[in-house]
Amino acid sequence: ADTLGAAAAESGRYYGTAVVPELLDDSAYGSTLNREFNSVVAENVMKWDATEPNRGQFNFSGGDRIVEHARSRGMSVRGHTLVWHAQQPGWVQGLTGDSLRQAMLDHISGVAGHYRGQIHSWDVVNEAFEWDGSRRQSNLQQQLGNGWIEEAFRAADSADPNAKLCYNDYGTDGINAKSDAIYRMVQDFRSRGVPIDCVGFQSHLDSNSDLSTYRQNLQRFADLGIDVQITELDIGGSGSAQANAYRTVTQACVAVSRCNGITIWGFTDAHSWRGDDTPLLFDTNYNKKEAYYAVLDAL
Ligand code: XIL
Repeated sequence: ADTLGAAAAESGRYYGTAVVPELLDDSAYGSTLNREFNSVVAENVMKWDATEPNRGQFNFSGGDRIVEHARSRGMSVRGHTLVWHAQQPGWVQGLTGDSLRQAMLDHISGVAGHYRGQIHSWDVVNEAFEWDGSRRQSNLQQQLGNGWIEEAFRAADSADPNAKLCYNDYGTDGINAKSDAIYRMVQDFRSRGVPIDCVGFQSHLDSNSDLSTYRQNLQRFADLGIDVQITELDIGGSGSAQANAYRTVTQACVAVSRCNGITIWGFTDAHSWRGDDTPLLFDTNYNKKEAYYAVLDAL
């Protein structure tokens, strides 16, 4: 195969990218996207601040554009993200107790319900743990207590029973205190029948990141009977060091049968959240980088 999506599809996987709706009609951006990828995720427009700027008033314009772009081209869509401590609208930040609980549940049913049947996998909860494995002391954690993650997954399951429901986080690129804590949560959810289907590994990396237990970590989660996905991959640096790190991550996913696919967090260095860094597979002129060829070869 000579594109990322086609190469991934040969083993039943997807290869996706984060996108912004404003650029879908840009010719260089759109042609590279449509040629190379068979999955997309919204970089920002499906987050809480974008989808529910005022309580109970939903705005799906950006997300709908992305979903329609994908649907008409046979691409699958990852949903990102239903509940997160960041990019919350202002009105959520002041809520307490049961009012915050109801707002969270209504948000999940509103957004996941709107996209019901159209989302391959939802990041139901994003970034709820600290490096040391403790819970992040967000408004959700402080107001709702430990049970909020499970409540979010149950609400997402009711709203869209066919989407895979994922927990997503960063800094889980190997066996460490943070991934251990998430592992125990998944184990607990599985033993009690809380609906969780997948864990997303964001994988915001650098060329010198320690990837020595990356594959082993994916495998131990898969062995719990869930799927694993690489959800926001980007790797700082350039040249062979960057290409080798991309190769290692790609090979890890391919080696784990329950690794469904890989999503990179943007595809051209012209549009990366990491600013002047060059962490993606295409340069600022949409030329394929060494890292691109390493990925294509490893898929
Ligand atoms: C980032 C976007 O790329 C930026 O455009 C935005 O300003 C902030 O959020 N982890 C996540 C993503 O789960 O949603 C973040 O995306 C990057 C880190």
